[in-house]
Order: sequence, then C-alpha cells, then structure tokens
Amino acid sequence: MLNKNLVSISAVGKYVPEEVLTNKDLEKMVDTNDEWITKRTGIKERHISEKNEPTSTLATKAIENLFEEYNISPDEIDALVLATISPDMFFPSTAAVTLDNLKIKHAFGFDISAACSGFIYALKTGESFIKSGMAKKVLVVGADEMSTISDYTNRNTCVLFGDGAGAVLLEESKTDNGIIDTILHTDGSGKDLLYMLGGGSLNPSTHETVDKKMHYIYQDGRPVYKFAVKYMTQVSKDILKKHNFTSKDVSLFIPHQANKRIIEAVGKRLKLDPENVFINIDKYGNTTAATIPLGIYDAMQEKRLIKYDLLLLGAFGGGFTWGSSLIRWGI
Ligand code: UT7
Repeated sequence: MLNKNLVSISAVGKYVPEEVLTNKDLEKMVDTNDEWITKRTGIKERHISEKNEPTSTLATKAIENLFEEYNISPDEIDALVLATISPDMFFPSTAAVTLDNLKIKHAFGFDISAACSGFIYALKTGESFIKSGMAKKVLVVGADEMSTISDYTNRNTCVLFGDGAGAVLLEESKTDNGIIDTILHTDGSGKDLLYMLGGGSLNPSTHETVDKKMHYIYQDGRPVYKFAVKYMTQVSKDILKKHNFTSKDVSLFIPHQANKRIIEAVGKRLKLDPENVFINIDKYGNTTAATIPLGIYDAMQEKRLIKYDLLLLGAFGGGFTWGSSLIRWGI
C-alpha cells in the first residue's frame, strides 16, 4: 500500500577515525602551507583512517553510534542505502559488508555512487522505499575514505579531503515533520573535470595505470568551483520556490563541505544569514558522501538544529551530480 505520510529522520549517528592530519602535518609532505589551505578552503584538519579500517568499518561505527544513542535494535532495520565513492572493493557492496559487520541478515542493502551528492541521492532512495511500502525503517549512510584515493604527493588534491561516516534512520513520520521534498540532477559532461580514471572497465588496473597514478582523484578545481556555486544556489532556490518558502524561512542550511568559500558564496546568493549556514569543513575537510550527515550530527550537538526547524540540504559533486532536500526537522 502506498504511504502518503511524510518520511522523517528519527535518529542520527557519526564516526570519524581517530587520527588527525593537520595543515602543519601536510606542510611536511607537500609544498603547501597552513595559510594557503585555510584561506583558500577553510580546512584546518581532517581525519584519516587506519590501514585496517576500510569504509565499511566507518559506516558500521556510525550506525553503531546511532543504535546506541537512540536505543535502536538491529532487528528493526529493513534496508541500508550507503552512499560512497571509496567502497571497500567493487563487490560485494560496502552496504553488504556493513550489514554483515552488524550481524543484520534480514535486511537488504546496496551502495549508491553519486560522489559528493551521494547522501542526498541515498536519502531520496531510502524515502522512496518507505513511501512505496517496501520498507518501514531504512538506514541511510554517507561514508567515504578519501585518503585511500588521494595522492599525498599532489598538493592540488591531498589537502582537500578526509575520511568519515554519518548515518540517519528513516521511518514514517507520525507528525507533520519530515522530508518535504528532494530535487536531484545529473550532468555527465562534468566527467572531464572531476574523476578517478583507473581501476574500472575503462582502464582496468595494470602496472601502467598505477604508474600513471590513475587510481587517484583528479580535479580541475576552478571550473568545478564555479559550477558548484551556480548549481547549489539554483537547486536550493528551486526547492524553496516550489514549496512557497523564501530563504527567510530557512532555519539552517547544511551544504556539502568542499570549500568554505563555495559555502559562503552560496549562502550569500541565497541571502541567508551566515548564522543559518552550517560549516564544519575546518574539522573534517571534504569527506564526500559523509559531509552532510556529519553536518546534521554536529548541528544537533551544537543545538543549531532543533525540532520544527526548516532544514535545507544542498550538495554538488562528481558526475556532475547535485541536489537539494527540504526537511521539517523532527528530532
Ligand atoms: O566536492 C566535490 C566538488 N569539488 C569542489 O567543489 C571543489 C571546487 N574547487 C575548489 O574548491 C578550489 O578550486 C580549490 C580549493 C581546489 C583550489 O583553489 P583555487 O583558489 O581555485 O586555486 P587554484 O587551483 O586556482 O590554484 C591557485 C594557486 C596555483 O598556483 P599558481 O598557478 O597561481 O602559481 C596552484 O598551484 O595555488 C596553487 N596551489 C597551492 N598552493 C599551496 C594549489 N594547491 C595548493 C596548495 N598549497 N595545497
């Protein structure tokens, strides 16, 4: 039976690896400096996973944190939708490994690849399973270990990224709070500006692909920056307009954290008060699919996100992919 009620986020969890890599540490590794990184990106430090701590471990720990803080039993879970571009391996999916780590046998799970917009894509997917009646409780996770695909001899990219995971639980809302709407976009012509070329069916791994460092991220930063500002602003305006809201109605905007300057530029274009724009890039760098759920968790901790707030999420990333969600917060 189709469910017409709203779907809401009823629990959140987070995990970041213990090891911290500061800008000062990076100064010893590549030709960079704290001032450049801070001024151009807003990043001060990022968390880096251990060798025996793959993406599924980060996802598992974020979910365990959610279970513990909200007293949820693994038995309640019907599905896991996990967004990542740094999976443990091509297959099985990181979702499958994560479910096994959690000893969940009765649920289904799979990965979503939409880079920095992955969490918003996964959120919409999880919501749709509940609305279709196929699942009652769905875990949605954004988890990435960007350190495993970053070249720590290339200052253009290695200073930008970090590792982490955030998890939310979705279920049918019993109130008027919940996910109001989500808009998603994809434009594959962005593939030439932000990519990892090696290891797939286009360039299967060989000594040559490794020698050419094709197993690392490549980004042409300046044009990506411009697209990020333009499209994150546009999709945010579109979703607000569609539901007869203005930026004055927005209690908190949690955007993807790729660059503090991008976030501030989008906030300005949306005419949002800087107090209503959430930024935590200084602590984590760009954790790709994990930035938004980490932002949600931290915003709640800091009491900047409270029940009945109108929450706007926005993301832009590889593909290109971009999107926005509008949520009446219910926790
Ligand atoms: O999350 C997915 C989507 N991604 C994004 O949204 C990221 C979008 N792009 C950006 O955030 C920015 O373009 C970057 C942070 C990647 C780069 O900032 P920028 O202000 O666009 O710098 P740039 O790439 O134009 O480089 C300016 C200068 C260059 O030197 P020259 O050519 O002017 O002499 C770079 O070589 O800064 C140099 N540079 C660095 N210097 C010190 C680049 N990286 C570094 C570094 N330390 N780490």
